[in-house]
Amino acid sequence: MARVRTTHIKTALENACPSTVSCADILAIAAEESVSLSGGPSWTVLLGRRDGTTANRTAANEALPAPTSNLDVLKSKFSAVGLNTTDLVALSGAHTFGRAQCQFFTDRLYNFNNTGSPDQTLNSTYIETLRGICPQNGNGSVLANFDPSTPDGFDSNYFSNLQVHKGLLQSDQVLFSTSGADTIDMVNNFSVNQTTFFESFVESMIKMGNISLLTGTDGEIRLNCSRVNEDSFGSSAALLAEY
Ligand code: HEM
Ligand SMILES: *[C@@H]1O[C@H](CO)[C@@H](O)[C@H](O)[C@H]1NC(C)=O
Ligand SMILES: *[C@@H]1O[C@H](CO)[C@@H](O)[C@H](O)[C@H]1NC(C)=O
Ligand SMILES: *[C@@H]1O[C@H](CO)[C@@H](O)[C@H](O)[C@H]1NC(C)=O
Ligand SMILES: *[C@@H]1O[C@H](CO)[C@@H](O)[C@H](O)[C@H]1NC(C)=O
Ligand SMILES: *[C@@H]1O[C@H](CO)[C@@H](O)[C@H](O)[C@H]1NC(C)=O
Ligand SMILES: *[C@@H]1O[C@H](CO)[C@@H](O)[C@H](O)[C@H]1NC(C)=O
Ligand SMILES: *[C@@H]1O[C@H](CO)[C@@H](O)[C@H](O)[C@H]1NC(C)=O
Ligand SMILES: *[C@@H]1O[C@H](CO)[C@@H](O)[C@H](O)[C@H]1NC(C)=O
Ligand SMILES: *[C@@H]1O[C@H](CO)[C@@H](O)[C@H](O)[C@H]1NC(C)=O
Repeated sequence: MARVRTTHIKTALENACPSTVSCADILAIAAEESVSLSGGPSWTVLLGRRDGTTANRTAANEALPAPTSNLDVLKSKFSAVGLNTTDLVALSGAHTFGRAQCQFFTDRLYNFNNTGSPDQTLNSTYIETLRGICPQNGNGSVLANFDPSTPDGFDSNYFSNLQVHKGLLQSDQVLFSTSGADTIDMVNNFSVNQTTFFESFVESMIKMGNISLLTGTDGEIRLNCSRVNEDSFGSSAALLAEY
């Protein structure tokens, strides 16, 4: 999922207007701004989210799909939070910009699923390019662009890349390369008609921004987006003083 550096935004907001704007709302707005500033659609972001009072990395990682997930797993993890197959394909289109670390796809280039061979669904020209960026047993933190054609633009090229077997992650390519899958028509549709992609993407982003919503007096306004607030007044006051 997208990771946005919210630290500076949160600090500025706490200075201007303490304990009012949640980290969840900051992320929702940052996502919309990133997309629209990169040539994608813009939309009105509903606000008033509050932040969760728990944080559990293990539980979060169990709920999230992995870059190695097959289509069945992707569908079931999205479905578990009320997102259907159209949402899965449209939202995966966010991988039309940004980057991923070699560690999340290098096995596809050399030894896919312990077969001793590359992933058959990966374009051989693209394999050579990616091998140049990610040598076997190299530094797993090095970054590769998700979209080799327009790396920083928000457009429908993600879907045309899948059609020529240039999906970076296994979880990208399975949307097009799983035989008989209902996602293939959707990829083809979004590939030829960017308007359809943008309309679906906005609808799905609004749907995703409404998952497990906390409002009113539920949850809290986190002071530090990296963790839940302390119970004790003393620590909260100390943290506030840092902003
Ligand atoms: C379908 C399941 C998904 C999987 C398995 C997945 C996996 C990943 C992985 C492994 C990365 C690279 C992270 C890194 O190298 O540190 C990444 C990056 C990214 N993801 Fe996803 N993702 C999924 C869905 C989404 C969705 C729904 C969105 C937004 C709507 C999204 C937006 C992004 C963006 C923008 C980046 C690039 C971040 C950057 O350049 O800093 N992803 N994703
Ligand atoms: C975090 O989630 C995991 C997996 O659901 C669970 O086993 C664990 O008990 C949770 N930890 C806490 C502190 O709640
Ligand atoms: C997914 O849900 C949207 C409404 O949120 C609907 O328009 C779309 O047809 C659904 N897609 C599938 C495959 O059921
Ligand atoms: C990976 O290997 C396992 C067992 O060897 C097999 O069941 C599975 O279908 C393979 N996955 C892919 C994507 O080829
Ligand atoms: C691995 O690559 C990352 C990102 O380019 C870099 O910050 C880090 O220093 C590298 N580590 C080593 C051991 O070369
Ligand atoms: C691989 O990519 C090239 C363009 O770089 C394209 O012409 C070719 O059709 C692709 N091959 C496959 C099997 O998708
Ligand atoms: C393509 O998208 C349009 C607009 O959402 C929709 O009417 C049409 O049914 C879609 N076609 C396919 C094959 O998914
Ligand atoms: C693309 O999709 C939009 C919205 O669904 C539709 O209005 C338009 O006619 C489609 N364009 C083409 C060329 O199919
Ligand atoms: C958000 O979800 C609730 C149900 O959980 C629904 O009643 C409401 O209409 C949704 N709002 C939006 C903007 O999707
Ligand atoms: C926010 O919390 C993280 C994790 O506990 C910590 O590393 C960081 O220093 C905190 N930032 C501030 C400004 O207190």
